[in-house]
Amino acid sequence: MSTLFDRIGLLYTGDPGREEIEHAALVVEDGRVVWTGPSGDDPGADERVDVDGRCVIPGFVDSHAHLVFAGDRTAEFTARMSGERYTAGGIRTTVAATRAASDALLAARTAALVAEMLAQGTTTVEIKSGYGLTVADERRSLEIARGFTEETTYLGAHVVPPDAPSADDYVRTVTGEMLRSCAPYARWVDVFCERGAFDADQTREILSAGIKAGLLPRVHANQLGHGPGVQLAAELGAASADHCTHLTEADVEALSSAGVVATLLPGAEFSTRSPYPDARRLLEAGVTVALATDCNPGSSFTSSMPFCLALAVREMGMTPLEAIRAATRGGAWALRRTDVGTLRPGSRGDLVILEAPSYVHLAYRPGVPLVTQVWKEGRRLV
Ligand code: NIG
Ligand code: FE
Repeated sequence: MSTLFDRIGLLYTGDPGREEIEHAALVVEDGRVVWTGPSGDDPGADERVDVDGRCVIPGFVDSHAHLVFAGDRTAEFTARMSGERYTAGGIRTTVAATRAASDALLAARTAALVAEMLAQGTTTVEIKSGYGLTVADERRSLEIARGFTEETTYLGAHVVPPDAPSADDYVRTVTGEMLRSCAPYARWVDVFCERGAFDADQTREILSAGIKAGLLPRVHANQLGHGPGVQLAAELGAASADHCTHLTEADVEALSSAGVVATLLPGAEFSTRSPYPDARRLLEAGVTVALATDCNPGSSFTSSMPFCLALAVREMGMTPLEAIRAATRGGAWALRRTDVGTLRPGSRGDLVILEAPSYVHLAYRPGVPLVTQVWKEGRRLV
């Protein structure tokens, strides 16, 4: 089964060799892109979609999201908007609600968020655990997440739960029984390395244990203040250091020389009314940047990649081209994936048709629902 997408006004391929093609066409066959080129030169296909001058982009790759949770933190947001500061302490509210929720409720809420994401153009999403914080609750969070994506992340080290006998005891559980029980459902291991969560030694110990168990490391790093997260990400060969809001020159240098992707999450700065990370500085230092939503009930309750992209352009010094790149190919790099985030022969047939002539409109027309069709592996889902 093959589909020709014809009369594309602007095709953003994400392929460094030929990143944009005007007046383009694209053919997807059996779920994969098999051809891209000028409209009119196509090799033909079983069916034809007339894109009528609109822009086509790869499905967004949202490489950082916390979707398995229950409960509500509206009051915390309201308090912040009247001047309270964000602290990660609210995580415990969500942990209590998540533990009390049934499997069916958690799965239904996760499904609703994944559907919201899809409707806004996200075709690949990473989902973390981290609101269970017991062996059984972390495992079930990951089992639920696995029902929606291969990109699942074990975040038992989100915070030390209040019922843990001590931080040392909890780290032993996270690196022992909890890891054994979660590893079969996870691809990645993550730690919230931050004052008030886990320090450098604990982070190193937890990530190393995860690596030994066959997981790949990524880190919540330097979100709320300067700290050791980014350096540890570089030291341990993490695919990505996420947040990267407070960076020293040495941190920027470490990201660039170790080839760690800096995943920026502007929804978190928006929703916590905090200063945004300096994307320009990272890009100028040659660091690969990804954009993701961080969708979670505390610091960033948005499922919208277009919103994050608009923030990145308006508030973080990124050009529209840098932002679309970071939201597609950048996210794929942050997940060490080469089959998504681009539209070139061999890529998965995951694409979005925008009700706009160019991806620039994602930032130029913020808040406008421009995602008009979403195709995944060659099948239309939206
Ligand atoms: O990535 N920073 C740690 N975790 C989340 C926030 C979680 C919460 O507040 O519930 C984040 O921003
Ligand atoms: Fe996060």
